[in-house]
Amino acid sequence: MKGVVLSGGMGVRLRPLTNVLNKHLLPVYDRPMIFFPLQTLASFGVEEVAVVLGGRTPELVRELIGDGRAFGFKRVAFFHQEKPAGTADAVRCCQGFLGNEKFVVLLGDNIFLGSVTSRLRRFGEEDSAFTLLARAKNLRELGVARFEGGKLVEIVEKPDVPPSQFAVTGFYIFPGDAFRMMEDLPEDKRGELNLTEFLRLYLAEGRLSWGIFDGLWLDAGSSIKDYNEAILKVRSFAEGRV
Ligand code: G1P
Repeated sequence: MKGVVLSGGMGVRLRPLTNVLNKHLLPVYDRPMIFFPLQTLASFGVEEVAVVLGGRTPELVRELIGDGRAFGFKRVAFFHQEKPAGTADAVRCCQGFLGNEKFVVLLGDNIFLGSVTSRLRRFGEEDSAFTLLARAKNLRELGVARFEGGKLVEIVEKPDVPPSQFAVTGFYIFPGDAFRMMEDLPEDKRGELNLTEFLRLYLAEGRLSWGIFDGLWLDAGSSIKDYNEAILKVRSFAEGRV
């Protein structure tokens, strides 16, 4: 399966750290932020990766990743999102690279500590999209799952009153019909195409599966506080304290 890492955006919520630098280059303890999703993809067995560049200093992101061999990838292709038109639009930039096969997408500021693979072994053959949920504290800054009788029935983006304690992480798998489905994707309030809306399309068709990541999940990009929390948690994890 091919993978995609999104590294665009202006990093508005991390200003002034991101005034002149791409958010994904900021250090998180012992490595640049974008190393985490790249290493997650590698641990998932992905060998061919598309990186979508955008926002500030995309050329530095490209230089940092290089040919991707240091991560164990066979091939890395770079795509440039001209305008910040949303996460689904960013994925659309890689359509030629991904073709009509199932692919996995990771947001460039998402950190999964612990193995993602073991929880997903079951997943693979299904003709559905997949999202990985995780317990989170800062639910008002995230997409949150709403369940009825144990069934996922809605994803609420940045809710005032979170309907559960499970956030939608930035880990998504889409089946081979993704780009055909994307033709029906409505723009959000900001006029952008986003992946939460895209998951909703699959949910409406009864084709969204989900799993719960029971390791430690961190969104390092949603606020300065969460960014700092991520640094502390990654350090604790590295020292075997989590
Ligand atoms: C995005 C998604 C949100 C998800 C989060 C995970 O939010 O829209 O549903 O919970 O990533 O990192 P953003 O961080 O772009 O605000």
